[in-house]
Amino acid sequence: MYNLLGVELKSPIIIGSGPLSYNAESMKRLSDAGAGAVVTKTIRKERAINPAPHMVKSTNSSLINNEKWTDFEPERWIDEEIPKLKEMGVVTIASVGHTLEESSELVEKVAKAGADIIELVSYDYTDLIPIVKDTKKRVSIPVIAKLPPMIENIGDFCKELEEAGVDAITACDSVGPAFRIDIETGKPLLGGNGFGWLTGEVIKPITLHKIYEIRRKVNVPIIGLGGCMTGSDAVEMVMAGANFIGVCTLPILRGEASLGKLFNDFKAHLHRLGYNSIDEACGIVHQYMGDINERTKFEFIYDEEKCTRCNLCVKVCAYKARTLNETMELDKEECRYCGLCASVCPTKALEVHELQKAYN
Ligand SMILES: Cc1cc2nc3c(=O)[nH]c(=O)nc-3n(C[C@H](O)[C@H](O)[C@H](O)COP(=O)(O)O)c2cc1C
Repeated sequence: MYNLLGVELKSPIIIGSGPLSYNAESMKRLSDAGAGAVVTKTIRKERAINPAPHMVKSTNSSLINNEKWTDFEPERWIDEEIPKLKEMGVVTIASVGHTLEESSELVEKVAKAGADIIELVSYDYTDLIPIVKDTKKRVSIPVIAKLPPMIENIGDFCKELEEAGVDAITACDSVGPAFRIDIETGKPLLGGNGFGWLTGEVIKPITLHKIYEIRRKVNVPIIGLGGCMTGSDAVEMVMAGANFIGVCTLPILRGEASLGKLFNDFKAHLHRLGYNSIDEACGIVHQYMGDINERTKFEFIYDEEKCTRCNLCVKVCAYKARTLNETMELDKEECRYCGLCASVCPTKALEVHELQKAYN
């Protein structure tokens, strides 16, 4: 079992607020498929009416959407869906937004209805501090704040949230605004004003940076959310400093069965790497972060047996330093040691071997 703020979860996988958490039955399916907890669609004072279409594929593992909050009235969640979730034993995180006026009216009601935890979200992140302070006064269940990624000094801001009493941080929401165009018609792919928010694989590097920055400054648990599609993505999130793994796009694009696979692959990777728990791997990257003027000296190791002679390493070399004829050769005068050749090698025939660190 995994413990999130005193609540027992059967897995560290948490479903982020989204279309699959539109009602209790759908949330139960996610829980049955292996989710430790499920966040409701964001509950507000008024129900949302969404543009159509409001969700499109951007790459094979990424989406853009301009779906708003829940399309149920708050009373539906308070009187029907949350009590049903409680009865069905689904660990429920109630997402509440987006203003102080709304949260002050809703948080006690969703807590009383049976939510295990509240997650607060706002379009204006600076509102989160008064919203967290107010919510902490109103409810005794734990309170999470969910942040948008594009906050300057996000670590310092999270420190302020921690001082305001927040119990955990979800890092982060989708990235945007972003949009795509159908070149056949010249129209935007999404309805409404055409602008939406990017999720899935392409945002993972941004999420990792935010988790890292937040972990440097706060001690509360972090739910890493944004771009996790595989077990190794989940390990990266933990190594950056997350304690729990959030996913939203993964089950939307790959189905509920992807949750069990994610959990198994994640556990297999941790085991293979020699970690007995998430805590052991949590934040381990922090000790290795150098500064921008550091220049690690390395040499390339080439394994001819593994090489398929695909020539990718040669093609990507901007400096034309690498050649592959009878043998692999490197022009050490021209090579800048950018490392791209080894990074693109599909069979790890070419790898970098660290020699020592130096400074410019
Ligand atoms: C279609 C869609 C609807 C979403 N709706 C909400 C929402 O109502 N409230 C919210 O806090 N986040 C919402 N999100 C954001 C997700 O919870 C999550 O932060 C984001 O998708 C990044 O995670 P991912 O890359 O694993 O999808 C939504 C995401 C998607 C794709």
